[in-house]
Amino acid sequence: MSLAEKVNITTGTGWRMGACVGNTGQAGGFPALCLQDGPMGVRFADAVTVFPAGVTVAGTWDRELMQRRGKALGREMRAKGVNVMLGPSVVGGKFPAGGRGWEGFGSDPYLAGQAVGRTVRGVQGEGVVACVKHFLANEQETFRQAAEGRAQGWPLIEALSANVGGRALREIYAWPFQDAVREGVGSVMCSYNQINNSYGCQNSYLLNGVLKEEFEFQGFVVSDWIAQRSGVASVLAGLDMSMPGDGDSFSDGAPFLGSSLTRAVLNGSVPLERLDDMALRIVATWYQMGQDTNYTAPNFSSWFRTPQGPRYFGTDDEGKKELEGRNQYADVREEHHELVREIAAEGMVLLKNGDATLPFGTGKDARKAIVVFGSGAAGNPMGMNSCGDRGCNIGTLGQGWGSGSVDYSTFSSPLSAISSRAESDRTMLEYVQSDDDYNLILPMASKTPNSTCMVFVSSDSGEGYLSVEGHKGDRNDLKLWHNGDKLVRSVASACKDTIVIIHSVGAVDMEAWIEHPNVTAVLLAHLPGQEAGSSLVDVLWGDVNPSGRLPYTIAKSLEDYGPAAQVLYTPNHRIPQQDFTDGVYTDYRHFDAYNITPRFEFGFGLGYTTFNISDVTVETLVESPGEFPAERTDSANTTTRITLNSTLPDPQDLVFPQGLRRIQKYIYPWLSSASVGSGPYPYPASYSTTPRPRAKVSQSTLYEPLLRVTARIRNTGSVAGKSVAQLYISFPANAATAETFPPRVLRGFEKVAVGVNGTEVATFDLTRRDLSYWDENENSWRLPVDKDARWGGYTLRVAESSRGAGAETVVEWVDV
Ligand code: BGC
Repeated sequence: MSLAEKVNITTGTGWRMGACVGNTGQAGGFPALCLQDGPMGVRFADAVTVFPAGVTVAGTWDRELMQRRGKALGREMRAKGVNVMLGPSVVGGKFPAGGRGWEGFGSDPYLAGQAVGRTVRGVQGEGVVACVKHFLANEQETFRQAAEGRAQGWPLIEALSANVGGRALREIYAWPFQDAVREGVGSVMCSYNQINNSYGCQNSYLLNGVLKEEFEFQGFVVSDWIAQRSGVASVLAGLDMSMPGDGDSFSDGAPFLGSSLTRAVLNGSVPLERLDDMALRIVATWYQMGQDTNYTAPNFSSWFRTPQGPRYFGTDDEGKKELEGRNQYADVREEHHELVREIAAEGMVLLKNGDATLPFGTGKDARKAIVVFGSGAAGNPMGMNSCGDRGCNIGTLGQGWGSGSVDYSTFSSPLSAISSRAESDRTMLEYVQSDDDYNLILPMASKTPNSTCMVFVSSDSGEGYLSVEGHKGDRNDLKLWHNGDKLVRSVASACKDTIVIIHSVGAVDMEAWIEHPNVTAVLLAHLPGQEAGSSLVDVLWGDVNPSGRLPYTIAKSLEDYGPAAQVLYTPNHRIPQQDFTDGVYTDYRHFDAYNITPRFEFGFGLGYTTFNISDVTVETLVESPGEFPAERTDSANTTTRITLNSTLPDPQDLVFPQGLRRIQKYIYPWLSSASVGSGPYPYPASYSTTPRPRAKVSQSTLYEPLLRVTARIRNTGSVAGKSVAQLYISFPANAATAETFPPRVLRGFEKVAVGVNGTEVATFDLTRRDLSYWDENENSWRLPVDKDARWGGYTLRVAESSRGAGAETVVEWVDV
């Protein structure tokens, strides 16, 4: 590749200058790449499936489903011609009210890491590059970008800085990314926010250091859209691709890479080697996924739905008139609706089921009459896609809002699914599709004394560029929307059998009604995607025995999560500073450490049967593993490095070619003149071209299993079901370290199907990383040892939830 070609593949062509939300330039035989959201389906496309959101998938605690969803996502992406899927997403660990938590996989790094890993495996197995995002600590929407904050009237100089210590960084925030890298993820998206006062896309410690050096990531780092804040500095810090290609703002046509990168390489500010590295990372990933054979170009447009439309949609000049035939309306859905239905049902969490209200019987045991309440029972009356990027909460909530949303091709609404199911038993069905017309609601709730009432309530959130009902991305609180508390209480005051169905992005405050004796059952359906109705009916009527478990804690109040778990809504500085003072004590670790009783603990969920967990055993797989992981044999020293042509071309050859039509706002690699200036670039004082000593730890050593744990799971109820056996470990109290440990942390889970009276064995492997903590002084993972250098003493508890029934054993002390 020529210098211009290398630059071209590192830089987006500009906002809306191609079919996808991100498009790279092409280079000879190397095609323009299509980067498209997102985590729950192909965004801005027709005839695709809307999968359940990340939080719903996390609620299944089922690795196989996680992977099957990844595979199905990958197939649809590929069939539409997407090269890079912008997902999975890792958010949601920290702030219950954080706007994009629903795109991620709950608040525990182990669970999220497993989900992310399986998603990557599924997606990339289909030859699509997964792009795990957003690196790092992009936990709230408010102030994620300075410009967005300023547009809301705040006098910001820079975006928010999430200030995270080294241990929490490894053990909480970067953990799932490490798992993604372990699975061979091809791409990582750096975040809008700053981390320790350095922007995500120019944070050399994180990109060069943690990601590429420590985790051995060999794919490419792509900026979040307009998250790049500098040119040379970002490139030297480890950014490999700029998206959508513009500079400071969308459609400004003034790139930090593109022609600026060409100039920076020619004048020596960026070593040519670094540009080669960027290009190699992109091209190698493309080959690794097999995209060099049999790969479709994008056959849909993100910007128009007619068969033909402007090729350069983002320009305002004559170029806009140039049309291309793009939309082929390829129906790529296959039979994925079945998988969506299965995941949505398996991820549904049954929180309350007094007197075994659920499941509904059939035939002579069928409910006589059902009355449905709430606007959330039926689809959006304006049309299921009437709000762009799902920027409204009208009708059943199947997704949150923002770039992670997808246009529906079909939507199964709860009301229609319930009514067709009820019909087969001749169950009477009435409904009031209002949240506040109490002249209708109250008489209906008390109408038939033996009716079952179902109340649909919701809570929504999304991405910071849209504001919905006063929530600017992040939720303002954890209250139900549309006065849901009042609706539930009002119905329950008149109806003895009130079942509450919650569609939500995450935890909601249920204190106003959860203990009401007439609230007989509560189902948390999260965000089911397109199969909201069909999956709900499966659980209500017992075709599916619910086995979803909470992937986060539901507290009695938002304050209970702790001061460090609160979204920063008002800037505390012109560069808002958010100190992650809770360290590794996030979510349930906080509740456990401070002895706070939650409403429903992490990992909780009921079913239509019961289980008993017993006989926890532990087997040592590695004797004397050593306190520190093995050093890696440095492949960089043993592998031949690829050497590319190291001669810089004449700048004159990089001047915008004569005769080429220039499209306004399109991003090119060409220079406007051959004068490229000369250095030196004002490098920071510590900048050096001499490689630093390499990180010592071998990643494979961290993933080596040291202990194997088993437990017996017995079904003690009267129907077959699935148990989620969860392994929590407690670090030894007498470890010779000043570090403290949360009372327990999740380090394993298995979803096991057990027949009536049956017993199954669940097996968990604990890796070195699972059993270690991050030692800041040693800059390494380290097994806890006592003062005599003996290792052991962990309590291993297999339980039904973080506080639920279970059984445990303690690991013997041995020489490390
Ligand atoms: C979001 C990313 C998304 C990108 C492209 C950004 O606003 O933060 O998650 O992938 O847009 O749509």
